[in-house]
Amino acid sequence: MTLIKIRPVKKEDHKEVYKFQCKYSEKESFEKFKKRVRENSSNYLCAFDKKILVGICYGQPSKFDKKSIQLQGIAVHLEKKYARKGIGTKLIKKFENVVKKRGYNRIDLGSADDKKVEKFYLKNKFKPYEIKAKGRNHFLIEKQKVKNYEEGLKQKEKLRNKYHPKEVIFIFEKRIH
Ligand SMILES: CC(C)(COP(=O)(O)OP(=O)(O)OC[C@H]1O[C@@H](n2cnc3c(N)ncnc32)[C@H](O)[C@@H]1OP(=O)(O)O)[C@@H](O)C(=O)NCCC(=O)NCCS
Repeated sequence: MTLIKIRPVKKEDHKEVYKFQCKYSEKESFEKFKKRVRENSSNYLCAFDKKILVGICYGQPSKFDKKSIQLQGIAVHLEKKYARKGIGTKLIKKFENVVKKRGYNRIDLGSADDKKVEKFYLKNKFKPYEIKAKGRNHFLIEKQKVKNYEEGLKQKEKLRNKYHPKEVIFIFEKRIH
């Protein structure tokens, strides 16, 4: 694979990045997207293979902890040429460097309810510390602390059987030094 370059989003990328975000990560209006990018452009990273946009990773300061950044989305182009080739890992590493330089010491995130994605975060040394059972429109049904991933998987199954929720997700964190 050719060299992947990662840099913060620029104004001229907005339309393309917005389309990519809506396709692979989070859907929102273009106005909301522009506001998100305006407020946190250095925390919105894009990966390019020459001129082709192949990945994004973005976040914003946590509302609950002023030393934490919440990673809100990460996505890599699904084409075979790009998927599972280390682009997501590169994006996370760069994201960690950026937020560290800005004085944060922790990244917090809610994973997709998908073992492939959970494995991706574990591989990148994120630690699961909580699970959340959620209903429609992200309604929180119940949350529980977890000691580790294996225990968390068992707890997830119990919550699924108890509530039949829309999803049960892991919350991960990583301390950055
Ligand atoms: C999660 C995602 C960003 C990973 O990006 P990536 O560039 O493919 O990941 P990397 O190549 O850096 O890391 C690969 C690791 O992730 C996990 N992984 C990724 N895809 C996987 C798959 N299809 N099957 C199993 N494990 C997978 C594995 O741990 C893998 O390591 P391995 O290949 O050594 O087994 C990407 O799959 C994606 O965009 N998914 C859709 C969007 C999404 O769900 N984002 C997360 C929202 S919380």
